[in-house]
Formats: sequence, structure tokens, C-alpha cells
Amino acid sequence: MSAKAISEADGKAIVNYHLTRAPVIKPTPLPPSATHNPPSRLASLYFAEGADVKGVLDQAETTYPWLLQSGSKFVAKPDQLIKRRGKSGLLALNKTWAEAREWIETKAGKSQQVESVVGVLRQFLVEPFVPHPQETEYYININSVREGDWILFFHEGGVDVGDVDEKAEKILIPVDLKEFPSNEEIASALLSNVPKGVHNVLVDFISRLYAVYVDCQFTYLEINPLVAIPNADATSAEVHFLDLAAKLDQTAEFECGAKWAVARSASALGIPVAPSKETKTTVDVGPPMEFPAPFGREMSKEEAYIAEMDAKTGASLKLTILNGSGRVWTLVAGGGASVVYADAIASAGFAGELANYGEYSGAPTETQTFHYARTVLDLMLRAPQRPEGKILFIGGGIANFTNVASTFKGVIRALREVAPLLVEHKVQIWVRRAGPNYQEGLKNIKSVGQELALDMHVFGPEMHVSGIVPLALVPGKTTEVAEFSG
Ligand SMILES: *[C@@H]1O[C@H](CO)[C@@H](O)[C@H](O)[C@H]1NC(C)=O
Ligand SMILES: *[C@@H]1O[C@H](CO)[C@@H](O)[C@H](O)[C@H]1NC(C)=O
Ligand SMILES: *[C@@H]1O[C@H](CO)[C@@H](O)[C@H](O)[C@H]1NC(C)=O
Repeated sequence: MSAKAISEADGKAIVNYHLTRAPVIKPTPLPPSATHNPPSRLASLYFAEGADVKGVLDQAETTYPWLLQSGSKFVAKPDQLIKRRGKSGLLALNKTWAEAREWIETKAGKSQQVESVVGVLRQFLVEPFVPHPQETEYYININSVREGDWILFFHEGGVDVGDVDEKAEKILIPVDLKEFPSNEEIASALLSNVPKGVHNVLVDFISRLYAVYVDCQFTYLEINPLVAIPNADATSAEVHFLDLAAKLDQTAEFECGAKWAVARSASALGIPVAPSKETKTTVDVGPPMEFPAPFGREMSKEEAYIAEMDAKTGASLKLTILNGSGRVWTLVAGGGASVVYADAIASAGFAGELANYGEYSGAPTETQTFHYARTVLDLMLRAPQRPEGKILFIGGGIANFTNVASTFKGVIRALREVAPLLVEHKVQIWVRRAGPNYQEGLKNIKSVGQELALDMHVFGPEMHVSGIVPLALVPGKTTEVAEFSG
């Protein structure tokens, strides 16, 4: 078994589609529904790198015409396996489509820190907002262990549900489904805090949900809140799964892939599909399941240190470690320039050797630049030596606001601290900088390079980033551009 998390939209689509279709294990208290659930309203929006955000949102209005129904209210949220989105400000509730659109526009394609993890927000989910009384919110969780499947139920749901392991009522469903509990047993094990009037409705729902869990080979399913609004005589209920997290057994793809796919087909999602000439069947078959990567990744200690410094200043200080044992390091001013450096390094064939990505800009102080540079140098010199030595690019584009001379003072201080190690690790330092007071900055760094016997090349604005990178990395490369002579 290989438990893999799926997106919320996929989890909801599977549950919605199969809830009335999966064979129940024992008869439930309510008669089977005469109709299937209507298609789920799940607008999944994906913003690829460099995507035209407005274009994606415009397209969504065509794909999901219900977004434009007047008077409708929506919920918008990223759908990237992020826990506790509400607490990170990643949940927009009760919004008109215009408001939801605007909210997504401010976030799509942007980096977001969630607790200690940073990631880019690319996948969003927009659904109808469901107003409901607080007392119709519940919590349910089904999870598989060796002895069977636990069902946890709590009579209150929502973000503040707290430690459910501790307080939820639970029942273990044995592996042998012949021992599946009776309706009475389910009610007494899970619903002791729920008014009797809704027992039948909830036992019916729990039994059907569990049937989907088994039939579609889930290994984990949590709905919080689950909203069940019974009809007047409690013969059925309007059930909404407002927030859902799920994992499937990926190794069951062979057996269950078709069930996962059909639930996510255009017709199951109510998406108008242009008639296809090719075949009659593909439209209803649906796409193969995608198992998204976890959101972002853990920040290293050094990255966290820089992020903390960044948070406390108006200047911008960014650091991401790509490959700590790479040969090529950068100490670059300006976000634009750091992209240009990274691109040039990759096109020179050194993408796998690029150790870090980041930038400092917005007029950081000399001390901030010192701490930033020291962090990068420390990482570079802690990594094992490389026989061919290492390369450090110090540079930036053309600064308008950042004083080159003063930020270089911080860089120089950091270089002085570790000069013997720079020699020992055979670090070649390639400097290229332009902007206010660049002459002074370049003169100072060049003379320090000479004083400390560093392997250093210094260029001014006549040298381009796209020129200095291959010059440093590609053997035999030469240039017409003269080094800075002070
Ligand atoms: C949703 O927002 C409207 C105002 O736009 C407000 O009147 C209404 O009470 C809100 N509903 C809920 C359930 O928060
Ligand atoms: C990181 O750099 C090391 C050393 O060159 C290399 O062996 C490794 O493949 C690189 N890792 C990646 C993910 O590129
Ligand atoms: C920096 O200055 C140059 C030349 O004055 C100008 O063309 C450019 O737009 C400025 N850049 C920024 C980010 O202000």
C-alpha cells in the first residue's frame, strides 16, 4: 500500500459521485436515494509558471458558468495539500465571484509561507458558499490501520475542533467486513452527543461514506466541517463536505483508476463539453488521478534566518538553497538580476551545480548585507571541497536605489572573515556590478581581493550578466570586455 494525498477537488468529486453508487456493506436506515447527487460544483483553477492570471480566470467563467450566476456567494482557497488554511489567511469565505477573482489574483503564482514551509500558490478551488447553522457542523475522519479502519466522529466541526484523537467518538471497523457494525452499533458508538432526530440521517451518511472509502480504496479521509441539514421529517439530509482531505492507495490504481477517473470526468463535474468527433467514450472516462507534491518544502536553518531578517526590514533579503553541494554560488542584488544569473548559469549547462537562489535589494544596510553574505559564504565553505574549485558570482543588475559602495562594504566584511577558506576551497570570485557609486564599490572589492590574494575578477557595467557567467563557467571562453581597472 502506498498512501498518497490527493487534491481537495478530486476527493470531493470522488465522494460526491460514488456516495449514491458504491455498494453499501449493510442496509442503512434510509432507503437508497432515487437519484444520484447532482454534479459537484468545483472550479479548479491552475496557474502555471508565467500564466496569464486574468486569462485563466476568464477561462474559468466559460468552463464553470455557475460562477457568473447573479447573487451567488463563493468560497475560494488554494488546493495544494495545505493544512489549516484558515489560520494562514488562505480561505476566502462568502465572496461574490468578483471578490473571489480579485482575491485569487493577489495570490496566484505568488510565494506563500505556511508555518515553516514556503511554496508557490498555483492551484485554487472555488465552490459555492453554503450558509448553515453552526449546530449542523460535524467532524468525521476515517483512517486505515493494520487491524481495520477507524471511524472518528465529533458532534462539532470547524477549524477550532481541537484534538480529535482525544475527544472524538470512534469505532474500529474490522478488516473482515462481515463483522461490519449494525446501524444501532454505529449510532451508539459515534453519535451519543447528537440529537436522536438526526441519527438515521447520519448513520446512513456514515455508512455510505465508508462504502465509498472501501470501494475507491481510500486510506485516509477527513471532512471538517461536514454539514448535514436534515429535511423536515429527517428522512434524508442535505449533506455538504465543506473541507476535505484525503489519501488514496496509489497501488490500487489498476483496480480503482476507472472509478477515480469517472468521478472527475467533465460530465460528472457538470462541465459543458464540446461534442468530440473522435470517440463517443473519452468524454465520460475522465482523467487519470494526479497525486500532487507536498506544498513547498521545509526551510533550512539558514533560509529561515534570512527570512526572519527579511521580515524585519523594508529591504528585501531572499535565500533559497537549491543544491548545497553545488559548485556555483550567487550573491546577487536585485530580484531581476538573480533570475538573469540563474538563467545564464542554467544555459551554460550548470543548472545541477547551482547551489543557491536569492537576492538582496531595496537598500539593505551594510550590516544586513554583511549577515546575508556571511550566511551564503558559510554555506558555500561548509560544503565539501571540489577538486575543480567553486565559483561565486557577486553582482547584480543596474541598481537605482541600492548604494553599491555601502552594500559592498558588507560583502567585503564577510569576505575578509573567511579569506583563508576561500583560498583553500579554490573559490573563483566573479564580480559584476553597476549602479550608484559602483566605481567606489568595485575599487574597494578589487583592492581587498588583491590584499587577501583571492582569485577574483571584477567588471563594471560594460560586462553583461549573460557574458560574465559563461566566461566564468565555460572552459576556454574569452571576452573583449576589459576588467575594471579602478
Ligand atoms: C455573507 O455576506 C453578506 C454580506 O455580503 C452578509 O450579509 C451575510 O450575513 C454573510 N453570510 C454569512 C453566513 O456570513
Ligand atoms: C548537486 O550537486 C552534486 C555535486 O555536483 C551533484 O552530484 C548532484 O547531482 C546535484 N544534485 C542535483 C539535484 O542536481
Ligand atoms: C532605473 O533607472 C533606469 C535609468 O534611469 C531606468 O530606465 C529604470 O526604469 C529604473 N529602474 C527602476 C526599477 O526604477
